[in-house]
Amino acid sequence: MSAIDAYISYAVNVVQVLVADIDFQEPTLQLSLICIAFNPIFWNIVARLEYRKKILTKLAGNNPKRGCYLLAITIFSIGIVRDLVYENALKKQPTSKILTDNTILKDYLSYATFGFGGILTLSSMYALGVTGTYLGDYFGILMEERVTSFPFNITDNPMYEGSTLSFLGTALYYGKPAGLFATGFVYLMYSIALKFEEPFTAMIYAKRDEERSKKQN
Ligand SMILES: *[C@@H]1O[C@H](CO)[C@@H](O)[C@H](O)[C@H]1NC(C)=O
Repeated sequence: MSAIDAYISYAVNVVQVLVADIDFQEPTLQLSLICIAFNPIFWNIVARLEYRKKILTKLAGNNPKRGCYLLAITIFSIGIVRDLVYENALKKQPTSKILTDNTILKDYLSYATFGFGGILTLSSMYALGVTGTYLGDYFGILMEERVTSFPFNITDNPMYEGSTLSFLGTALYYGKPAGLFATGFVYLMYSIALKFEEPFTAMIYAKRDEERSKKQN
C-alpha cells in the first residue's frame, strides 16, 4: 500500500468514526438544520418582496432607511435564535474522542476559528454599515463605491465566511461531529444564497450606473 493509499484509507476511517458519532434522529439537530436553512431563504424572499413591492418601506412609513433597519433587526434576531438552537443541539450530541483528544483542535483551532470568524463578521459590518450589511441595495440604498478595505481585501464574502467559521469553532470547542456536519450545511446554504444575491446586487448597481450615464448625456 502506498503512502497516499494509507492516508486516504485513514481519512475515510476518521470520517466514518465521526459520522457514527452524529445522532441524526435527535430533534434538536433537525431543528438546528431547519434554522440554518430558514434564515437565508427568509431574508432573500423578504428582500425581493421589498425590491418589487416595497413592503418594508411601506411598513416603516415610506422610509426606506427605517425599513432596512427593520429588516436588520429581524435578521440579527433570527441569527441569534439560530445560534442558540445550534449550541443547544450540540449539547445533546455525542462527543467524539477524535476531536476532544486532540489538544490542538480543541484548545487552539477552536478559539482561532471562532475568533477569526468574529473578526470577519464584525469588521465587515463596520466597513459596510447597517444598510450595507443588511441588503440595503434592495431598498434602493446603494453604496457610492465598492468597499475594498479590510476584510474585503482578503475575501469577497467576509460575513458568510466569518459566520461559517464561528460554527466551526463552536463544533471544535465542544468536540461534536454533528457540529462539523452543521457547519458544512451552513457553508452550503450560504453558497446557495450567494447564487441568488450576487447577480441581483450586480443588476441593481448596473441599473443605477445606466441611469446615471443616461442623465449625463
Ligand atoms: C488588508 O488590509 C489590512 C488593513 O488595512 C492590512 O493589514 C492587510 O495587510 C491587507 N491584506 C491584504 C492581503 O492586502
